[in-house]
Amino acid sequence: MAFMTKYLLPILVVSLAYYYYSANEEFRPEMLQGKKVIVTGASKGIGREMAYHLAKMGAHVAVTARSEEGLQKVVSRCLELGAASAHYIAGTMENLTFAEQFVTKAGELMGGLDMLILNHITNTPLGFFHNNTHIVRKTMEVNFLSYVVLSVAALPMLKQSNGSIVVISSLAETAMRATSGVFIAEAAPKEDCALEIIKGAALRKEEVYYDKSIWTSLLLGNPGRRIMEFLALRKYNFDKFINN
Ligand SMILES: NC(=O)c1ccc[n+]([C@@H]2O[C@H](COP(=O)([O-])OP(=O)(O)OC[C@H]3O[C@@H](n4cnc5c(N)ncnc54)[C@H](OP(=O)(O)O)[C@@H]3O)[C@@H](O)[C@H]2O)c1
Ligand SMILES: *[C@@H]1O[C@H](CO)[C@@H](O)[C@H](O)[C@H]1NC(C)=O
Ligand SMILES: *[C@@H]1O[C@H](CO)[C@@H](O)[C@H](O)[C@H]1NC(C)=O
Ligand SMILES: *[C@@H]1O[C@H](CO)[C@@H](O)[C@H](O)[C@H]1NC(C)=O
Repeated sequence: MAFMTKYLLPILVVSLAYYYYSANEEFRPEMLQGKKVIVTGASKGIGREMAYHLAKMGAHVAVTARSEEGLQKVVSRCLELGAASAHYIAGTMENLTFAEQFVTKAGELMGGLDMLILNHITNTPLGFFHNNTHIVRKTMEVNFLSYVVLSVAALPMLKQSNGSIVVISSLAETAMRATSGVFIAEAAPKEDCALEIIKGAALRKEEVYYDKSIWTSLLLGNPGRRIMEFLALRKYNFDKFINN
């Protein structure tokens, strides 16, 4: 009986919660209408495709990346597609001051923020295998630390709108081309991939996997990890944790 209440019951609760969370609501494009959305790394690739989908759904978009020329084109296309508004601010996420100021400026341009989509990445040469570890620092700054800075800067606005943060990690077209011959797999179509991300974001899904194989979501979804997380988190006193 002790075993039942200690382990089986929580597992049942998690499974049921997971089932209800994932099965309840259906995506409607109107969910994004008039929403104020930031997309980083939006001068090309998946970022650009997400901006286009958002534009078609009538959202306000603010995009960033380093290439001003690329962003200009994305903004004009977004306006053609029906964006409520479209702005760009160019800069590098190597500069964390830029990252912080970008969020503030984008918020001012759109009059708030409902969704922060973090998608930019720097490409990482494997030089650290040759004693070139400063590459790791730079990669961590662009691919991780800037995500933290952007999120912290966006938090006051997201709290006000009950908004959300979306983090992308994929092996889409560009990655496939860059590693062509090294990593053997077919690239996922980025337009379709971008749409699945937007849908998942609108429905506030905890995780979205895009792959033809059902094994991907099964293995990456990792139910064992979720159960462990659930059990481990019950042991924390969160009030104390946060106040300390
Ligand atoms: N490419 C890979 O090797 C790889 C591997 C694993 C996962 N992914 C995932 O794929 C997603 C996007 O992939 P993708 O195929 O769409 O990549 P992509 O086409 O290379 O796009 C990357 C975007 O990030 C921007 N960017 C690069 N360096 C930047 C910097 N220092 N500061 C600000 N912006 C910068 C790029 O624009 P600018 O060049 O104009 O700045 C571009 O808009 C990422 O979220 C990543 O997690 C990619
Ligand atoms: C970083 O960005 C800020 C804000 O855009 C800018 O004022 C500053 O000059 C940048 N720093 C560098 C080293 O480029
Ligand atoms: C790695 O690089 C540093 C600085 O360039 C050097 O001092 C060190 O000897 C190198 N280590 C190896 C194992 O090559
Ligand atoms: C904010 O969003 C969450 C998740 O969708 C929902 O449960 C909650 O009721 C919302 N709160 C407000 C104030 O709208």
